[in-house]
Amino acid sequence: MNTIIEPFKIKSVESIYFTTTEQRKSILEKACYNPFRIKAKDVLIDLLTDSGTSAMSSNQWAGIMQGDESYAGSPSFFRFEESVKSITNMPLVIPTHQGRAAEKIIFTILGGKGKYFISNTLFDTTRANIEFSGAEGIDLICEEGKHPSIPAPFKGNMDINALQKTIVNIGAENIPMVILTVTNNSGGGQPVSMQNIKEVQKICTENKIPLFIDACRFAENAYFIKMREKGFADKSIAEIANEMFSYADGCTMSAKKDAFANIGGFLAMRDLDLAMQCRNLLIVTEGFTTYGGLAGRDLEAIAIGLQEIMDEHYLQYRIRSIEYLTNKLIEAGVPVMQPAGGHAVYIDAKKFLSHIPVEQYPGQALVCSLYEQGGVRGVEIGSLMFGKYDKAGKLIPAQLELVRLAIPRRVYTQSHIDYVSEVIIEVYNNRTGIKGLTIIEETPMLRHFTAKLSPVL
Ligand code: F0G
Repeated sequence: MNTIIEPFKIKSVESIYFTTTEQRKSILEKACYNPFRIKAKDVLIDLLTDSGTSAMSSNQWAGIMQGDESYAGSPSFFRFEESVKSITNMPLVIPTHQGRAAEKIIFTILGGKGKYFISNTLFDTTRANIEFSGAEGIDLICEEGKHPSIPAPFKGNMDINALQKTIVNIGAENIPMVILTVTNNSGGGQPVSMQNIKEVQKICTENKIPLFIDACRFAENAYFIKMREKGFADKSIAEIANEMFSYADGCTMSAKKDAFANIGGFLAMRDLDLAMQCRNLLIVTEGFTTYGGLAGRDLEAIAIGLQEIMDEHYLQYRIRSIEYLTNKLIEAGVPVMQPAGGHAVYIDAKKFLSHIPVEQYPGQALVCSLYEQGGVRGVEIGSLMFGKYDKAGKLIPAQLELVRLAIPRRVYTQSHIDYVSEVIIEVYNNRTGIKGLTIIEETPMLRHFTAKLSPVL
C-alpha cells in the first residue's frame, strides 16, 4: 500500500464558498490587489497561512471544556507548563497570546539601538519587533538556502562561517541573541539540521551569546531530522525535539502552528533573571504570569496539541501532502522551491513571471492571478513583504521573490490539493498575459498587510 492517507476522520465540517472568475476580478479590484484585504468568505481555498487555521481534534475540544478560567494559578496553566517542559526541558515557561507577543517582550528587554540579532532568517514579525526596539536583524542563511531550485536536505541551516565573521565584525557584546527559525518559514519552510544547531550553539557559547529557537514548527523540523539526518531514524520525535532544545537557552513559540491551536504562544528559557524581566513586562502588556493573554481553555488546547503534533503518522501525512503538491507542480514545469518544505509550497515568482521586473512585484502579481483564476489565496514573500527603499527612493528588492501557499493543518483533503495544483498549472500556462503591479499606498512597517496596489498598464 503506497497511499499515505489522512490520519483522521472528519467529525464536523465547514462549508466553503464558491465565486465566479468575474466576481473575483471585481473583488480583487476592490481589495486593491492585496489578498489580505479580501473577505475570507470570498476565498475558496485559503492558503494564506498555516497559522491559527488548524482543525483541532476532539481531544482538544474536550480539553477546552476542562479549561479553568482562574486569574492566578489555574490548573490549565500547570498542564500547559508541563506539556511545554516535556518538549523543551526549559524550566521557565511564560504564556503569551501569540508568537509576536513573545517576540515583543524578549526584544523590548534585549533589543535597542546599537544591538544586532542574528538569525538563519527572521520571520517578518520577528524582524519587525527587533527593528521596533531600535535594533537590527541580520539573516545569515547558508548558500544552499539562496537557490530555490537546487534541492538540499537542510536548506534552513545558518551559514556558520558568516556567523563567525559577523560576530568578529560587530562584537559579541552587541549581539544579545542568535535565533534559529525552525523550520525556516521565510526561506521556504526548510529545516535546520541537528548538526547545524550544535555548531551554532558552540559558537554562541564561545562568544557568550544566548541561542534561542523560534520554535513555531519544531515538530516538522524534528521529522525532517528523523528522515534526513544520520543517526536519528530510530529516535522518536519527542527525543529529537528534546535534543534540539537542549542546545538552546530559550525559545519563542507561536502555538498557532505546531500546537494545532487557533491562538496562543509562549516564551521558555533557563535564565531566571531574564524570565523575571519577561514576566514583569508580561503583566503590563499581556496578563498575569499563569495566563499571559490567553483563556484557560486556550492553554488546554495548546497543552494537548503540542503532544498530538509529535504523532509520526500525522507528521508523515503532513510532510507527504506538501511534497505531493510540490511534485505535481514540478512535473508541470512550474518553478518551485525544492525540496518541498514542511508547511507550504513556495513558488519562485521571479522565474514564473520572468517578464515582470522586481519593481513590479511579480510575487504579488502571481498571488492575484491565483485568486482570480481559482479563488485560491496565497501570500507574497518577496519584495512587497521585505523590500526596502534606498535614500533615492529606489526599491532594494528582497533576496527571493516567492509565493507561499501554506497548508492549514488537518483542514483540506487531497481533492482540494488536486484542485489547487490545477489552478496553478492553468495560471502557469497563461503566464505571459499577467501584468505587474505598482504600490499606491503603504505603511512604513509590515506594509504587505495593508498596502494598496494597482496593475501596471
Ligand atoms: N515566527 C515564525 C517563524 C512565524 O512563522 C510566525 C508567524 C511568527 C514567528 C509569529 O507568530 O503569528 O503567532 O504572532 N507566522 C504566520 C505565517 C503568521 O503566516 O507564517 P504569531
